[in-house]
Formats: sequence, C-alpha cells, structure tokens
Amino acid sequence: MHQQETTNTARNIPEDLNAAILSFGRDIFSQIGKEQPSAFNKNFWAGRIMEWAMTRPEFKINMFRLVDVLPALRNSRAVAAHVNEYLGTVAKDLHGLAEWGLNVKPDSIRAKLTAAIVRKSVKEMANQFIAGETPKTALKALRRLRKQKTAFTVDLLGEYSVSEKEAEQYMQRYLEALEILSDEVRKWPESAPIIEGHPGETTPVCVSVKLTALYSQSSPLNFKRSVSILSERLARIASKAKEKEASLYIDAEDYASNPIILEVFKNVFSSREFLDFPYPGIVVQAYAKESRQVMEDIIAFAKKRNNPLAVRLVKGAYWDMETVLSSQRNWPSPLFAKKSTTDANYELLSRILIDNHKICLPAFGSHNIRSLSHACCYAKASGLTERDFELQMLYGMAEPIGRAFAARGYLVRFYVPLGEMIPGMGYLVRRLLENTSNESFLRHTFFDSEEIDRLLAEPEPAE
Ligand code: FAD
Ligand code: 2OP
Repeated sequence: MHQQETTNTARNIPEDLNAAILSFGRDIFSQIGKEQPSAFNKNFWAGRIMEWAMTRPEFKINMFRLVDVLPALRNSRAVAAHVNEYLGTVAKDLHGLAEWGLNVKPDSIRAKLTAAIVRKSVKEMANQFIAGETPKTALKALRRLRKQKTAFTVDLLGEYSVSEKEAEQYMQRYLEALEILSDEVRKWPESAPIIEGHPGETTPVCVSVKLTALYSQSSPLNFKRSVSILSERLARIASKAKEKEASLYIDAEDYASNPIILEVFKNVFSSREFLDFPYPGIVVQAYAKESRQVMEDIIAFAKKRNNPLAVRLVKGAYWDMETVLSSQRNWPSPLFAKKSTTDANYELLSRILIDNHKICLPAFGSHNIRSLSHACCYAKASGLTERDFELQMLYGMAEPIGRAFAARGYLVRFYVPLGEMIPGMGYLVRRLLENTSNESFLRHTFFDSEEIDRLLAEPEPAE
C-alpha cells in the first residue's frame, strides 16, 4: 500500500477543520429531524423486515437466503416449502406472515396465499430500492427527483451474463435506455440545470454502466480479450451517449474485475473519438487497500488525457463477498478489515480528489453524514464552491439526508436502478446487507439512534 502522504492529505486533520465538520454535521442532523428513510420506516414491510433482521441474526441470514432464491421458485408449492425450510426454526416468535405461513400443506390454499404474500412483500422491499422495470415505467420517479431539485444517474440491473445472447440483450437495454431517457427527460421543464454552470448538469441524462455483464466471458483469466471486447462494447454505449448528449459513469465491481474495468475505461476515453466526451465517470472504492494507487493512477490518466473526468468515490459494495471469498481461499484480503480504516481512507481520498478537482470532478457517493460533511468542509476550506463537486446517494436509502444536503445548495444525484427482480437480486441483497450491518452508518443513525457527536467523530484508522 502507498505510504507517502503530503501535508494537506495527512490522516489526522487540523482541529479547526474538524470543528467545522462537527458544526456542519450537526446542522444536517437538525435539518433531518425525525425524518426516516423509507427503508427504515416500520410502517412498511421493508422497514419491519429490516427490524427483524437487525434484532435476530438467524432470521437475517435465512431471510436473505429466501429472498435470494425466491425469483427462481416456479410455484406456490416451492415457495411454501422454502418458507418452511428457511424460516421454520427461527420464526417461532414472529407474529403475522412468517408464523401463519409455516407448516402449511404444500398444495393447500394457505400455501398459495403464503406464496403470494411472500412474493408481494419481497417485491415491496425491492421497490424501495428499484424505481421501475423499464426506463418508461421509471420516468415518473425520475421526474419526481428532478422536481425535488436533485439529479439522477440510471443503472440497469444486471450482474453477469451467462451467454453472449444475454450480453447483447443487456447492451440493447442500455442503448434503448439512452434513447428513451434522452428523448423524454429533455422535454421536462425540471430538466433545466439545478445549479447553473455545474459540470454535472451539462445534461440531465446520466447513466451508470455495470461493464462486466456486457461480456459473458469477462474474467481476469481472460484479461486481454475481456479488455478488448468490453472496450468495443463500451464504445458502442459511449457513441450512443454522445449522440444523445448523456453522461456516463462506469461502476466499480468486484476486486478481480476492477483492473479490467479501469483498462477499458482508459482505452475508450483516450481514443480520439471520445477525447472530448464531457466528464466520463469512473469509481474508486475506499475499502480497497490499493485504492490510493488507483486514485493516483486515474488522476495521472486525466492529466495525460488533458480533459477532465468525473470520479465517484465510494466505500465499496462487495465487502462481505470479498472477505468471505478471500478467507475461503486462504488469501490475504485486498480490503481493509476495520470499518474505521475504510472511513479514514475515504477522507484521505476525498482530500486528494478535492486537491485535484480541476482535472477530476469529485462525486462523493455516501450516506454517511460524517464522510460527506468532511468532503464539503474540506472543499470549502480549499476554496471550492458548490459548482466544483457533487454528492451522490442510492435511491431509496437516504432520502432525508439527500434533501438536507440539496437544501444547502449542493448538487445531489441519486443512483437509480431499473430492472426486473431476477437481475436485481444481487443488488437488493447488497442493500439489505448494507443497511442491517452492525457497521452501517444508516443503521446507527436511524435504528440504533446513536449520539450525533459519536456519529460525527473523526474516524481513526485501526490497521
Ligand atoms: P457507511 O455505513 O459509512 O459505510 C459502510 C461501508 O463501509 C460498507 O459498504 C463497506 O464498504 C465498508 N465496511 C463495512 N464494514 C467494514 C469493515 N469491517 N472493514 C472495512 N470496511 C468496512 N459501490 C461499488 O462497489 N461500486 C460502485 O460503482 C458504487 N456506486 C455507488 C454509487 C452511489 C451513488 C452510492 C451512494 C454508492 C455506490 N456504491 C458503489 C455503494 C457503496 O459502496 C455503498 O453504498 C457504501 O459502501 C455505503 O457506504 P456509506 O458511506 O454510505 O456507509
Ligand atoms: C452496487 O451495485 C451501487 O454499484 C453498487 O451495489
């Protein structure tokens, strides 16, 4: 890991900056007041299921197994059998659905009802995080975001393609989404820039791409070919985005795929055709031990390209999977083991990004008020204005936090997934794991009601 640090990116930040972060963060908390994100609202199934999952670890594991397998179950008999199998031993003390739906005869009317209720509840839970099945059905939700003076980036749900036919279908969905969104969104009066002159608002249409699903054989063992084929495929999407005046972010994925993704990004956006593509976006994951090198590599690429990029800084969505996988294989984990180290590294990388904002438009992707307040305060102390960076959040995770930052004049962009249940399962399970984790800032804030000053404390790197 990179050890060298410059003065203004040193780990312990000056006291006056920390005091500014505390005061800023307290203001955000007071603006949020008692508002709850819908995912934590116990008036809805999603909120209740989250509550059970957070208070009963066994229920959590088995519930997630059920959610994961549900789209593949073809009939009510199979659903009833799986409800029994997964929840049978843990749901004794739960009232309502789980209790009522247990030990039912597989072909009975009660089994059919159980299946219908379970499917409906999981769908309701998915609808918290997914705005629609298609770009057309999501237009209403997207317009609502613009009405609230927040921007969006649309993601098409999909993790892997198991055949080239499926990969091509996924590609077509991107091309179609760019057409539909561009044609429809531009007609809305709400599409006028939220902040005049902000580089993130040169177009209201923004799409996030999960690259590896565009090639069924994408793998680090097939590195050269994966890069070559994915470069052609991303170029097709970038060409359509250019024609339709849309902007693009390329998501970071699992640790093994990220070097392919970065190479493809560099290939496409250093080619003559896309050298003037405005602010193509790439993602850095602060939980990765080598994230600082990745950030510096991207900054060097932007300077060489001599045209600015956008860099979304996130903590990383695959912590559980990567950690289990490396321990299973007896490999050292590529990720930090302590949450506070990831948080401290996020702050370090935020400062590096802000110091390089002229060549890399910073986009801070987080729901953590400490992490975001740190970015906003360091940006202000460095002479940046609200036009020089943006904040990004996931749809359905933290609406009150997004509104509070937007009300203070920041550009807030929501990442909005679209798609059906099966391709959306991985995404849904990641969000449920994230929200119910003992380390989650949202959980500490909206479920455990931790002290505000503890939530806003400077993270101490622990490794
Ligand atoms: P916090 O609760 O402060 O942080 C939770 C995060 O800390 C976990 O997700 C994990 O990264 C890390 N963590 C948890 N436990 C530990 C531990 N024991 N040791 C070390 N670290 C730990 N993720 C991607 O991977 N690729 C993307 O392209 C991507 N795009 C995103 C776009 C947007 C707009 C947003 C908001 C998020 C995106 N994410 C992406 C997901 C993001 O990584 C998670 O939402 C995020 O990690 C949650 O962080 P937080 O700051 O909101 O919450
Ligand atoms: C994920 O798919 C948001 O990219 C992130 O979990």
